[in-house]
Amino acid sequence: MSVHCMIETLAIRNLTISPPLALAPMVGLSHSALRTLALELGGVGLLFTEMLSVTRLPQENVGASPFLMRYPEERPLFYQLFVSPGQDVLPAVERLHQLDAQGIDLNLGCPAPNMRKQGAGCFLTDDPEQVRNLVIKLRKATELPLSAKIRLGIKLDEHQLLDFCRMLEGEGVDLLSVHGRLHGEKFCRRPRWDWIGKVKTAITIPVLANGGIFCVEDARKCLEVSGADGLMIGRGAAIRPWLFSEIARDIYGMSTLSFQDSDPLHLEELYLHFVRLLERFRPERRLGRLKQFTHYYCQNYTFGHHLAIAVQTSISVEQAVQRALDFFQESRKAQEA
Ligand SMILES: Cc1cc2nc3c(=O)[nH]c(=O)nc-3n(C[C@H](O)[C@H](O)[C@H](O)COP(=O)(O)O)c2cc1C
Repeated sequence: MSVHCMIETLAIRNLTISPPLALAPMVGLSHSALRTLALELGGVGLLFTEMLSVTRLPQENVGASPFLMRYPEERPLFYQLFVSPGQDVLPAVERLHQLDAQGIDLNLGCPAPNMRKQGAGCFLTDDPEQVRNLVIKLRKATELPLSAKIRLGIKLDEHQLLDFCRMLEGEGVDLLSVHGRLHGEKFCRRPRWDWIGKVKTAITIPVLANGGIFCVEDARKCLEVSGADGLMIGRGAAIRPWLFSEIARDIYGMSTLSFQDSDPLHLEELYLHFVRLLERFRPERRLGRLKQFTHYYCQNYTFGHHLAIAVQTSISVEQAVQRALDFFQESRKAQEA
């Protein structure tokens, strides 16, 4: 499929997603600050929360919870749920209606050990009938767009994978995000974008391709190989929050702001702006989130690991910011020398 015939808009239920570029759900990263930053830089058409426990969500204090913090501008926003077998999803869905969610996403792809313990994430898919019943319940409980995020399975089995995806579509899932790796595969393995293509041709609901998109060329290649309707970007958006804007401009022909990532002042300003966006979080959360973001953002610098270590070993946000400022000054000096 040629990228020239890509659609720029996805319509699911009453929602329009434009451009079809989504910020992936990521624990500790896909919070209000990164979502806001991506929106300000432009080009992102859909936002996700980090995964939320279906049992804890109804008890979270909306005003104080770092997981639920959100500006009204952060939309369309899908809240991602992880669910263990037998858990009641209805109170969480009710909560999401109150929170003005634009959609609900079901986590069927996370392979983390704590998901294994709870039988949630990708482990829920060990029993497809269980997933079917869950989707039926969710579909009955909400008129909101319902999406699911999957990996490719335990092993490469086209028949099983496509059956599973058809089942999701048949029970009312409106949008499917596919991370092109098997359950046990680490990030160092190349994602199988061609397998996302197999899913795309088997179902009629929109498919977002996910995994390993760090630059415009990756985005172009992934769209070509998978034929997906859009992209979901995770780590690439934490390293380069302006990536959506570049893809929207270069692939979808949209006019977006241009960010000069070769200009050290631009990089510094963006980092400090991110720190300001974190201000609404309590200090201990702020520091953790800053450390996690810096782990990715430092990759914009040749000696970025120095920045990562300096922030990682800080005991307060103030110290982390001062150390980051020192790093920026040193790296500018080195560049000018
Ligand atoms: C720090 C981190 C946290 C993540 N948390 C979640 C999560 O909460 N829910 C989820 O479905 N996937 C989660 N993922 C997986 C990402 O959504 C995405 O599928 C994966 O990073 C591959 O995409 P990428 O190569 O664009 O990063 C997480 C990934 C990372 C790196």
